[in-house]
Amino acid sequence: MSTRVRSVFKDREKLFPSHIPERLPHRERQIRLLNTLFEDFLIKPGRTYQRIVQLYGPVGSGKTCTAWRFGLRYQQMCLEKGVDMRYVHINCKLEAKSRFVLYQTILSKAAPEVSTRGHSPEEMLSLMVSFLRESDRYLLLSLDDVDYLIKRIKEEDREGGVVYDLTRLNELYPGEFSNIVGVIFIARDPGYRELLEPSERSTLGNIVIRLPRYDARQLRDILEARVEEAFKPGAVDEEIIEYVAEIAARKREEPGDCRFALDVLLAAGYIADSEWSDRVTLEHVRRALSETFWGISTDDLMTLDRHGIAVLMGAVQALQAEKTPYVSIKTLYEFYRMVCENQGLKPQSYSSVKGIVRDLSYRGIIDYVEGKGVGIIGATLEDLSRLLTSLERGRRLVF
Ligand SMILES: Nc1ncnc2c1ncn2[C@@H]1O[C@H](COP(=O)(O)OP(=O)(O)OP(=O)(O)O)[C@@H](O)[C@H]1O
Ligand SMILES: [Mg+2]
Repeated sequence: MSTRVRSVFKDREKLFPSHIPERLPHRERQIRLLNTLFEDFLIKPGRTYQRIVQLYGPVGSGKTCTAWRFGLRYQQMCLEKGVDMRYVHINCKLEAKSRFVLYQTILSKAAPEVSTRGHSPEEMLSLMVSFLRESDRYLLLSLDDVDYLIKRIKEEDREGGVVYDLTRLNELYPGEFSNIVGVIFIARDPGYRELLEPSERSTLGNIVIRLPRYDARQLRDILEARVEEAFKPGAVDEEIIEYVAEIAARKREEPGDCRFALDVLLAAGYIADSEWSDRVTLEHVRRALSETFWGISTDDLMTLDRHGIAVLMGAVQALQAEKTPYVSIKTLYEFYRMVCENQGLKPQSYSSVKGIVRDLSYRGIIDYVEGKGVGIIGATLEDLSRLLTSLERGRRLVF
């Protein structure tokens, strides 16, 4: 819980990546699919063979949280049936930099009673499988970011066969049912399979679940639910959520990344708190974006001509006046004309201004969305306005 008396947050931990939300909007279908794939074991525990599933999806598409949420629920369902089934989730980037360390980690989580000292990797796995059999215990394993592990192992070129080992755990007791309920291999894309030996690749099988990129509407639903958990009621308006969802869905690099959207909200919340504000405003979000992620540099602005600067100033003033995330080019044009008048410039035509808007958007200085209009993401309006005024003043002295 937040310790500050005055804060926009109710519980900011709920925005951290380590928090696995109870409900995952737009991932229900994939969780249902996982349930179906593993339901046999729930119906006849101890009388199934090991299942291998692959889970793929781009950055921030919810692979990790989907696997965790499914795994924890599944473990609970087993427990309720009186079956000791443990879900073990291994983050390869953190916990498994080699085959040896991976197996050590798996053992320490799945069967901490078994000592790994002095054993080879193969021995560790067979000790674990025997132990699980003897103690009537079961394991469902997820290997997260497995592509990273495979690449590392290949680079070292000494040891291999992680996929081979883990997909054939049941072969230690041929013909018998397995205490390993299944292994879920998680990666951003299936490309890493090219690094595997053909025989190893074939043991992965064909059961693949793909998580599509989130679009703006889906991100909005997700953020709404997360905001409800993390922020005080009324601290974050619908408009803010929509704005952050829109930006995250359309950003050039890794569009649809939910982690990015949550980070922006968290940073904007911190900024709101630092100003003792009881609401997160569009300016807080813009500042979060400019400080944390983008940044319109003075260098970018120096390359613009006077009309470029005037259009940008028009955009800033229009956004300040309208207090909306985007303004139409028509509105912007009205403000642009006022700026020109103030500076003694002859305004350019509406269609030329449209061209300037497009150019500014290619430069990444403004954000132009068909149907919505112009927004600013790289700076707060206040900072940008100050910067533009001083730039224009400087220019007037030179010209
Ligand atoms: N459907 C969802 N509902 C709620 N939160 C979500 C959802 N999808 C993703 N998130 C959140 O977004 C963040 C990123 O998700 P996650 O870590 O699962 O992505 P990932 O696909 O594993 O990304 P990476 O490829 O970088 O490992 C996490 O904080 C997660 O809780
Ligand atoms: Mg992940």
